[in-house]
Amino acid sequence: MINTIRLLFDTKLVRYSKDLLTRNVPYVCKRNLKTFNILGIETSCDDTGCAIINNKGVLLGERLHSQNLMHLRNGGIIPDVAQDLHRKYIEPTIDETLKDAKLTFKDIAAIAVTLEPGLPLSLAIGMKYAKHLARTHNIPIIPIHHMEAHALVVRMQHQISFPYLTLLISGGHCLLAVVKDVNKFLLLGESIDNAPGEIFDKVARRLKLRNVPEYSQMCGGQAIEIAASKATNPHMFQLPLPLTEFRDCNFSFSGIKSSALYQLFRKEREHNITADKLIPEVNDLCAALLMTVCRHLVHRTQRAFEFCQQNDLIPEDNKQLIVSGGVACNNYIFNIMTMLCNEFDYKIYRPSPKLCTDNGAMIAWNGLEKWNRDIDIVNDLSSLDIKAVSPLGESLISDVAKAKIPTKLMKLRLKA
Ligand code: KG4
Ligand code: ZN
Repeated sequence: MINTIRLLFDTKLVRYSKDLLTRNVPYVCKRNLKTFNILGIETSCDDTGCAIINNKGVLLGERLHSQNLMHLRNGGIIPDVAQDLHRKYIEPTIDETLKDAKLTFKDIAAIAVTLEPGLPLSLAIGMKYAKHLARTHNIPIIPIHHMEAHALVVRMQHQISFPYLTLLISGGHCLLAVVKDVNKFLLLGESIDNAPGEIFDKVARRLKLRNVPEYSQMCGGQAIEIAASKATNPHMFQLPLPLTEFRDCNFSFSGIKSSALYQLFRKEREHNITADKLIPEVNDLCAALLMTVCRHLVHRTQRAFEFCQQNDLIPEDNKQLIVSGGVACNNYIFNIMTMLCNEFDYKIYRPSPKLCTDNGAMIAWNGLEKWNRDIDIVNDLSSLDIKAVSPLGESLISDVAKAKIPTKLMKLRLKA
């Protein structure tokens, strides 16, 4: 044993860690290796994701077990059901990822795993399994913040330097933040109630879009995007634009949702709609919903541009907006955001759709970025725990409100 340790130490592979002293097990540190791989595990909500990337950021294998169909059938995510499915699929998902990459745990330098924020029952499965693997194979864990991973994964595909502005839009969150570095975020605004993906999913369910064969396997946001593109009278329904009197960068979506549902009830009564039937104006209502959400996102982002300029948060020669999270898959929203960016001389990027929605690669990538900077490489596994709620970075939300920027909002000629 001593010889083994000496041998490894001589080849600079061993770091004498707390683990070595307390558990009498050598912590094999692969930090000095020229080539290494990071395994990422994502279980924060309803997707069991795993991916392996090498030290150059090349994706060697990835697997995703989506629970979408089960939750569509149940009319939403039931946390116990999500947990059972994570428990069932986590091991095969990881094994298949290793097989795809033609690797074993001997080739893995660290396990990156989402620990915050998310559904506690779902997060717990990822954490427990990651700890089990870390103990068994004697490798460290890199804890990952789910929203930080969404904000950073674009760097896996594009050369984007810090600092940049990010708009993260998903089923659980909506926020605007300046990404200063891998572990430095300035939060400019966030949703005070629902997230955009959440209201898309709820309204799609209530519209019964699932009963249309074309949409039957799609998440709500995607179904609404396609239905909206078929609208014949996109201005038939007017939904209220939220928070117009507040000169900040926060978001609110619950009023849009309530108003869309109210208009739906009205039309259902008017047409005497029963059971599984959809209202005839379903495409127009989807268009109104998408346009209003989009308008709100554009207005708050415009104010964020102005706040960043006033406070020198983004250099003139590095004006970049990164849109990420599941809702960033929406081409209509991305195209309108592109128009806004053109007006303000910002470049705009988003990760490819598979990397916008929850996935293991963004966790592995965040693990690699932390590994390269020696951030959060944890050997004392007992110090790791999950957090359901976890704000992103340092909050500048009250500074934005105090600035009271009287944004002259860009005129949008929207048509879904
Ligand atoms: O990031 P994500 O996979 O999970 C969370 O962290 O929440 O985002 C999932 C959300 C769902 O609410 C889904 O309806 C939405 O992303 N989404 C979309 C589209 N594709 C997925 N929303 C609008 N348009 C899309 N094309
Ligand atoms: Zn997400």
